[in-house]
Amino acid sequence: MMPIVILYNAVSLDGRITGFDADLELYYELASKWDVDAVLMGSNTVLTGFGVKAGETFPESDDAFQPREKDPDDNRPILVVPDSKGQIRIWSEILKLPYINSVLVLCSRSTPREYLDFLDERYIDYLVVGYQKVDLENALEELNTKFGVKKVRVDSGGVLNGILLRQGLADEIHLLVHPELVGGSTPNSIFQTNDTDGELEPIKLYLGGMEKIKDDIIYLRYRILDGMFK
Ligand SMILES: NC(=O)c1ccc[n+]([C@@H]2O[C@H](COP(=O)([O-])OP(=O)(O)OC[C@H]3O[C@@H](n4cnc5c(N)ncnc54)[C@H](OP(=O)(O)O)[C@@H]3O)[C@@H](O)[C@H]2O)c1
Repeated sequence: MMPIVILYNAVSLDGRITGFDADLELYYELASKWDVDAVLMGSNTVLTGFGVKAGETFPESDDAFQPREKDPDDNRPILVVPDSKGQIRIWSEILKLPYINSVLVLCSRSTPREYLDFLDERYIDYLVVGYQKVDLENALEELNTKFGVKKVRVDSGGVLNGILLRQGLADEIHLLVHPELVGGSTPNSIFQTNDTDGELEPIKLYLGGMEKIKDDIIYLRYRILDGMFK
């Protein structure tokens, strides 16, 4: 069974995901109330969030190389990150995030062996799914069958959102629309794809909820109509 996949972004009124004063406290406060089993985060989002470059490391204590005990009663979600190029090397820092119980890295057959060894040495779980890039459909299926994941919150930029949307893997999109206009011409929206994809039909949505949630911020929830791109 495929899990329910919900894309979640803070956006400016002109649909941009960076370059404005996003209310992160509100973003995470709302997110903490969702009953999700996994948070899917793009590798660029992780690198940007921690302010590190690809491959950058932090000093590690001996604990980073010890197996970690898992508490079966810990209901916090797993953090799942596609990182086929082996860019993220700060997993012991990431594991300190208070809202996750563990991490799972998604790799592909193209992931350097050296990176898989790096993860093994640190007892970081990973799945190898796909050839060049991570096969997200298989990854989501395996999250369900191997880890019991039924609902996923996607906390990512337009690239990962774009792939999930084009592959018909996203079910809902939730937006916190901020009263700011950013402008600009760089690709920086919640849905990034090749320009040639513009020849495809737009993805149709229907409104699931709309709320003025704080100050002038609107919380919008849309469902994605099935079968548009499958
Ligand atoms: N405002 C908001 O709500 C919000 C939320 C999150 C992030 N952001 C911002 O968004 C920016 C980062 O977003 P981004 O769009 O650049 O990157 P991203 O979505 O964070 O990362 C791209 C992800 O897509 C994966 N990917 C790329 N091509 C793929 C393919 N063909 N098949 C499967 N997976 C594929 C990459 O995996 P590989 O590493 O394996 O290539 C990577 O994990 C940052 O500036 C961040 O601050 C804003």
